[in-house]
Amino acid sequence: MPANVVVIGSLNMDLVTRAPRLPRGGETLIGHSFATVSGGKGANQAVAAARLGAQVSMVGCVGNDDYGVQLREALLVEQIDCQAVSVVEDSSGVALIVVDDNSQNAIVIVAGANGSMTPAVIDQFDAVLQVADVIICQLEIPDATVGHALKRGRELGKTVILNPAPASRPLPADWFASIDYLIPNESEAAALSGLPVDSLESAEKAAAQLISMGAGNVIVTLGAQGALFANGSGYQHFLAPKVKAVDTTAAGDTFVGGFAAALAAGKTEVEAIRFGQIAAALSVTRAGAQPSIPTSSDVQAFKPA
Ligand code: RIB
Repeated sequence: MPANVVVIGSLNMDLVTRAPRLPRGGETLIGHSFATVSGGKGANQAVAAARLGAQVSMVGCVGNDDYGVQLREALLVEQIDCQAVSVVEDSSGVALIVVDDNSQNAIVIVAGANGSMTPAVIDQFDAVLQVADVIICQLEIPDATVGHALKRGRELGKTVILNPAPASRPLPADWFASIDYLIPNESEAAALSGLPVDSLESAEKAAAQLISMGAGNVIVTLGAQGALFANGSGYQHFLAPKVKAVDTTAAGDTFVGGFAAALAAGKTEVEAIRFGQIAAALSVTRAGAQPSIPTSSDVQAFKPA
């Protein structure tokens, strides 16, 4: 069956330490636990879209190491098509993650094989993009490749989603016209718009700025404050479902994957946002990246507190 969601992006092995708090510079802390968990924003979004109802293909690169085998296997068990996940002569991408007792995290990523995602890889797997309804990109692969993929998605008439994560700088101006849904969190919205984002009002201003730059629709995810949806016609604020957070890693990825799966299934934007929000809320109640991502049945069974 052809994929209706294609995710173009990173696969990382997450090396996760839980500690009482995040360490300061020069400090050694005694941690509570350590685990290796499959992650990477691209792979997490692929797993989320698959568990939440979509047929998914992944376009990415892993290294020729044990992590690469495990990262690919983690997608295959979710029935994700991996014909476009290439094995390259490099180490797989890794993410060093510390999660504190308040469920906050700090992450350092090392791209490794994700750096081999050149624009030529997008051309090589053009047939995979052609059968998609929705194409999702993030920023853990080279910018030139993201820009190329966005433009190809637009040329093919697909629904194009960019989750600009991680972002610490404005996006190339010529990307915006190819983006149907730009989904930043607060700090990413600030980096992209050049405006501070620390409240709903300031998120509205940043979203308006990003729309004036050319993005079709903007969804600013605001953590426990919910999400702000904006387009040329106005704004809508969606409250977040209330849950007890254990680990926020991959909450944004779960929202993006769930939103995309719902859109691909023909849901409206409003329905897709609410679906993605419940999925993301459930993900923060569980530890880890991919292990925390719920299924469609979990979302259907969710009862607000
Ligand atoms: O969004 C969470 C992800 O960010 C982690 O899985 C880690 O790999 C980093 O890419």
